[in-house]
Amino acid sequence: MSSLQSFFALIPLQLPDLRISDDAAPPQCCGLSCNLPLPPSPPTWRFGGHFLPRRKPFLIVAGWINEYGPVITIRSRFEKIVYIGRYKAAVDIMECQGKLVAGRPPMISAGISSGGMGFANAPSGNRLYRMRRTLHSYLRSKAAKAYQPLQMSHAKNIVVGILDDPYNFQRHVVTYAATTIMKVAYGKNTHTSRAVQRHDAYLVDSIPWLKYLPWYGRDLKLRFERSKKLHTSEVNRVKEQMHNNEDIGPSFTKYMLENSHIYGFTETEIAFLAGSFLKAGSQTTSNTMCTVLMAAACFPEEQAKVQAELDAVIGWHRAPTFADQKSLPRLQAFISEALRWRPLVPDGLAHQTIKDKTYCIPAGTTVYGNVWSICRDPDVFPEPDAFKPQRWIDGQSSLRDDIKLFVFGFGRRVCPGQHVASRSVFITALLVLWAFKLTLDPTKPLEDMGFMGESMPDIRPCEFEFEKRIPETELRRMMQDYPEVA
Ligand code: HEM
Repeated sequence: MSSLQSFFALIPLQLPDLRISDDAAPPQCCGLSCNLPLPPSPPTWRFGGHFLPRRKPFLIVAGWINEYGPVITIRSRFEKIVYIGRYKAAVDIMECQGKLVAGRPPMISAGISSGGMGFANAPSGNRLYRMRRTLHSYLRSKAAKAYQPLQMSHAKNIVVGILDDPYNFQRHVVTYAATTIMKVAYGKNTHTSRAVQRHDAYLVDSIPWLKYLPWYGRDLKLRFERSKKLHTSEVNRVKEQMHNNEDIGPSFTKYMLENSHIYGFTETEIAFLAGSFLKAGSQTTSNTMCTVLMAAACFPEEQAKVQAELDAVIGWHRAPTFADQKSLPRLQAFISEALRWRPLVPDGLAHQTIKDKTYCIPAGTTVYGNVWSICRDPDVFPEPDAFKPQRWIDGQSSLRDDIKLFVFGFGRRVCPGQHVASRSVFITALLVLWAFKLTLDPTKPLEDMGFMGESMPDIRPCEFEFEKRIPETELRRMMQDYPEVA
């Protein structure tokens, strides 16, 4: 194709025809000249660039995507930011060419507060590659499956918690997520109540030379010292337990200490890697669990279909376990639809291109996969605003495996904890929906986007009412005798 032909081929969307495939081969566009303009931009006359509100910016971006095409560019002061808002474009740019979009835009303040040890903000390169490989090999391994009995037992505690104190349902879910992640990270049975520190915007991210002022960022440096102390003390505790031959069960930290010769991380690096679990994996999991249960209360007909499946497969004389998972496509479809309906991170997390081959997006550009819009792509999800779990089920009544749910992010930065998290969401939804019929308290306000976001909302987005589906004494007995193997 001549460069002129390729130019005309790109004019309508400035994208070639995109393919959906798992094939890692780069799409045709790779060889095209990057002298072409960036993807289209909604007009703006503001000096500061396009205006995005602090609350729910994804809704504004979704409007632009509908109007200007699947990939758009917006301006924030002097920086160009690319948003991807359709499924095919996300597959092609973020997945097939994932290596080229694996960076993160530098955030100086986060670098200082993590002493350069942070994971989620780590730039693309050898260190990130080693960290991700390590986490993947642990969190996707058989070792991580060993947490299933624990996840079951914690989900059982939610059921008992609802029986004892239904009003504090949200607290039971938060406790589930916090205790599970402490166990995975450190093998600890109790959870230390640690507020996840939000990372606000700092002036140094707009005016980088501030970092050279010796007095600047004292609070950020202090934050680093505090986290280091906290994470290191957890690692030292595990080391001591190992030294004393205590039976502490599996944990990521134990695994890393035992295999440090393979991975070659320092102890401080191990401490921060394990610490990243708590930061990234606790409130994300609890909010997602709440979203699924909120969907059940908001769509009673769909909840009833799931419960019909549970009654047929499990009945009321035994409690469900992970062993039932394969026989419950309707429940799994319901969960996928709930996550599509209200994705946890609707704006996506910022990636950054590391080479300027990706379409016409130059190296160094910040790129967001706008999960909200991608989940509402009408070509892939017809009637995108309708809640239809059926869309995840094929003609053979099995779960479809040809559509990807991007709620765990994209390509080389996809969430390494997604398998552990998905199992948590599944087992809680299974036990709670088997035991109770959920309805919304009509006297309390409903904010159905309230559980979106990576921290637990301060104000309850809704109030649930739980109606027991099984006589209470039976239910309590089954929970008491709940199996300890998955
Ligand atoms: C349902 C719960 C969860 C959701 C919805 C979720 C979602 C996400 C998303 C959207 C990202 C950004 C991906 C991207 O940049 O494209 C991410 C990154 C990450 N997640 Fe999760 N996550 C969850 C649970 C967990 C758990 C349980 C862990 C740890 C065990 C975890 C560890 C991480 C880490 C370390 C990253 C940073 C990866 C990187 O920058 O390369 N997450 N997660």
